[in-house]
Amino acid sequence: MRFLVVLGGLCAMAQSWPDYGGGPDAAQYSPLTQINRTNVRKLQRAWTYPTGDSNKYFFNPVMVDGTLYVLAKNNSLVALDAAAGKEKWTFDPGPDTKVITNRGINYWESKDKKERRLLFASNHRLRAVDALTGKAILTFGQGGSVDLKEGLDRDPKTIALVQSTTPGRVFEDILILGSATNQGYGSAPGDIRAFDVRTGKLVWTFHTVPRPGEYGHETWPAEAWKSVGGANVWGEMSLDVKRGILYAPTASAKYNFYGADRHGANLFSDCLLALDARTGKRIWHFQMVHHDIWDYDDATAPKLLTVTHDGKQLDAVAQVTKQGFVWVFNRVTGEPLWPIEERPVPKSDMPNEKTWPTQPFPVKPPPFARQKFTVDDLSPYLSPADRAKFRDDILSARNEGLFTPPGTRNTIQMPGNNGGANWSGAAVDPSRGFLYVVSKDLPAMLKLEPEGKAKSGFNDSPEQRGQMVYQAHCLNCHKADRRGAPPAMPSLDDIAVRMPRERIVAAIRNGVGPMQGFPKLTNVELDNLIAYLYNPARARATVPAGTSWADAERYLSGFGFMIASDGLSPIKPPWSSLTAYDLNDGTIRWKIPLGDVPHLAAKGIRNTGSHYPKVGPVVTAGGILFAGTRDRHVRALDVDTGQALWEAELDAALEGMPAVYSVDGRQYVVFCAAAQVGLTPSAQGKINGAYVAFALPEK
Ligand code: HEC
Repeated sequence: MRFLVVLGGLCAMAQSWPDYGGGPDAAQYSPLTQINRTNVRKLQRAWTYPTGDSNKYFFNPVMVDGTLYVLAKNNSLVALDAAAGKEKWTFDPGPDTKVITNRGINYWESKDKKERRLLFASNHRLRAVDALTGKAILTFGQGGSVDLKEGLDRDPKTIALVQSTTPGRVFEDILILGSATNQGYGSAPGDIRAFDVRTGKLVWTFHTVPRPGEYGHETWPAEAWKSVGGANVWGEMSLDVKRGILYAPTASAKYNFYGADRHGANLFSDCLLALDARTGKRIWHFQMVHHDIWDYDDATAPKLLTVTHDGKQLDAVAQVTKQGFVWVFNRVTGEPLWPIEERPVPKSDMPNEKTWPTQPFPVKPPPFARQKFTVDDLSPYLSPADRAKFRDDILSARNEGLFTPPGTRNTIQMPGNNGGANWSGAAVDPSRGFLYVVSKDLPAMLKLEPEGKAKSGFNDSPEQRGQMVYQAHCLNCHKADRRGAPPAMPSLDDIAVRMPRERIVAAIRNGVGPMQGFPKLTNVELDNLIAYLYNPARARATVPAGTSWADAERYLSGFGFMIASDGLSPIKPPWSSLTAYDLNDGTIRWKIPLGDVPHLAAKGIRNTGSHYPKVGPVVTAGGILFAGTRDRHVRALDVDTGQALWEAELDAALEGMPAVYSVDGRQYVVFCAAAQVGLTPSAQGKINGAYVAFALPEK
């Protein structure tokens, strides 16, 4: 501790936030101590930089040498003076490239610091921008970009999605990238790839769905690699720079909820992979879910920290997951710190499905999320009608705890596929061996339906199916072009950048203002509808006449988030919590609900935990944990107790993590408060998203 204080003092001149998550190790940790327990109450706004539009943002800024890089102004990259919040330059990627990596960015500099680049994907193209001038680098790739759909050994035209909205990791002169495949059947393979930061040339590829002859190929049907996808790294990665090891957590194989075409354990889906960062060769791996049919993607960066274990210092890696588990390994050998048991789990009753008979359970540390949802767990804040409905749902569903397989009858999933830990949701104090995890308690109810396949062979995508739902139920009001008739009838055209998915689900399911809800849509119809609203370009204008439908052997389920009429979760609060672990002995030090729900807080109901969180905590050597939540609050908590030491209210909801840095001896914490703007028609167009910097008063 004393060492860190001294280091913090020395670094007080300039401490950067050089990478997504604070650095290659994704620790979400700053060694700065100027803001600390004794003075944090005096924090003041140092500057505010409005995002300049009504998009939602949850971008983790990067700060190097006094320049802060943010995403704002209709998805442009903006360089700011990090001490004053004043613009230095703006880079607009252009109208065709508006889907930009929006959780953070990759920063690279040459050894002599003369060359500096920002690297990001927009749509399916990897691009580079000069970080000093904000000009596109046209010598990168072909005419300034690399087509990420190429080189996957699939016809690029058949690949709907490859771009992740999470940045990758820069190591030496390469950029290591994961990808987002879509969720459906036949999605792209989740290859992890490394590109030369100067030329954009491919340096290595790791097949997460192994090819013939590669380790793990036998965990799939022999030919599956040609058609099955996923097992991708859409979330965060981290790097042990000293050892040259990349830690990559992978997602489930696709299709998410039914695996009859992928019998086997399905390596390397749902794995923590340790790869040689220079070559992409596998060093070790651990699979957290065998043959995943629950969408239990691992998305949070593996956390690197040093713990005292059996009396010795040990360099560990900790992975937190959607199921609510913390897995801790020796980061060099992959050996777990505490025993892991393979326990029998319930069997699927679906045709041709072969669930894996066991799943791994860590005996230590204890989980940070609730892993069951019964009638005893219903929220006391449900209306009587909701209470009766959810009671019936639970009692009639298959509900055998963690890893209950989805079937054609309702199946309860808790934590749901959007619960537990997710991107940005964990921070560490690397030298003390402490881990802080944000988790979300949101149950899901899954239900498989036969896919119903179009016989005439047109573009039969989720978006196309969703468009048909839209035409049947929404077109009259929101219009064929989805632009509505503002202000009375909101446009849904920009809904993907304005509203989080759960809010869209709640609006459609329960209604909003004068619009009635659509409770009868099936989960699959709802998901297809949202897929269409997110990506209307992927649907054709009309389904050809004469199209007929037949049941196929494939099944689909929606994500099935369980949401009550008031938009909240039907499970008892807390809906989000923050758990502090001491990984020296694998115990929980403290646990608190994180944040409030504004309309309940107004009635005096506090400490429910905020709803819809993707909260990224950041810990500092000053003994502070900073976090911003959906209740529009930013807080500073004492790392040792969880006690709130300071809080402030901002104009918009927050998601993702702040950046902590210092310039000219002054420490700043910058929050991106733009996760939810212009929600109601009257607020549409009103710009209230901003990057807000706090610091201690200048002497
Ligand atoms: C009878 C007309 C009508 C129909 C049909 C209708 N909506 Fe709406 N919708 C509205 C109105 C009016 C609002 C604005 C409510 C408010 O905030 O006051 C709205 C709001 C919304 C919102 C919230 C948007 C925002 O900016 O706050 C979403 C999302 C939405 N509708 C989606 C849909 C979808 C999807 C369908 C089809 C399943 C649909 N609506 C069908 C009238 C309709």
